[in-house]
Amino acid sequence: MTEVAVVADVPAAAAELFIESVGGAVAARRRAAVALTGGSTAPPLFARVRTAPLPWEQTEIFFTDERAVPPEHELSNYRLAEEGLLRHVRVAGVHRMRGEAPDLDAEARRCAQDLRDTLGTPPRLDLMLLGLGTDGHICSLFAGVPAIADRGDEELVRHVAAPLHVEPKVDRLTLVPYLVVTARMVVLQVTGSGKAEVLARALKGPEDLVACPAQWLRKASGRVVVVCDPPAASRI
Ligand code: 6PG
Repeated sequence: MTEVAVVADVPAAAAELFIESVGGAVAARRRAAVALTGGSTAPPLFARVRTAPLPWEQTEIFFTDERAVPPEHELSNYRLAEEGLLRHVRVAGVHRMRGEAPDLDAEARRCAQDLRDTLGTPPRLDLMLLGLGTDGHICSLFAGVPAIADRGDEELVRHVAAPLHVEPKVDRLTLVPYLVVTARMVVLQVTGSGKAEVLARALKGPEDLVACPAQWLRKASGRVVVVCDPPAASRI
């Protein structure tokens, strides 16, 4: 079931969920597996959690998606996470998607194997952080791409062509819906009135996964919490 928390301070509420999820996972299984997102909502959350007394050394860090750029590039999601979080804490492992790889299909397969090697088969994330695109995308699962309707149970990580209507227009590597619907907790941060319509479609619009990939959240078996501010929540 999807919970919706309408709050004034979105990163603060998301940080509480992050702390709960990582702390709970380590207490229960001696390890936490977290997938970090890119996008505008990521840095404020990183700034909040990096000073939290969490069991970082038992936390494995993955990424929801990456752009086809090197890690030091201004568009790199890894760079965002490195500067905002990873250089401030000592984690068990950082599982970067290599956006600079010459063969992104092969890199997707390598990342999928790394997930299996680290978390077992099938791999299950403890926490997936997400943002919402105005076209209804989560991760780099863009609207209008028919393959989005494929859960990707065996695939786990996918190379997708550069989106036509979403910036930046570069190829991506992305986790597939299977990892979204099996994560123990998903936290979707949404801010601003520009996301109000798409958030309403994601939560209660007629089901069309290709037109609104964020509707995969409705199929999640874990806990899904949408943390949004009042302008983003104005249409739900
Ligand atoms: C990325 C993200 C992507 C992002 C959304 C929302 O690489 O861009 O992982 O899924 O979360 O596009 O981004 P904004 O919050 O910047 O609108």
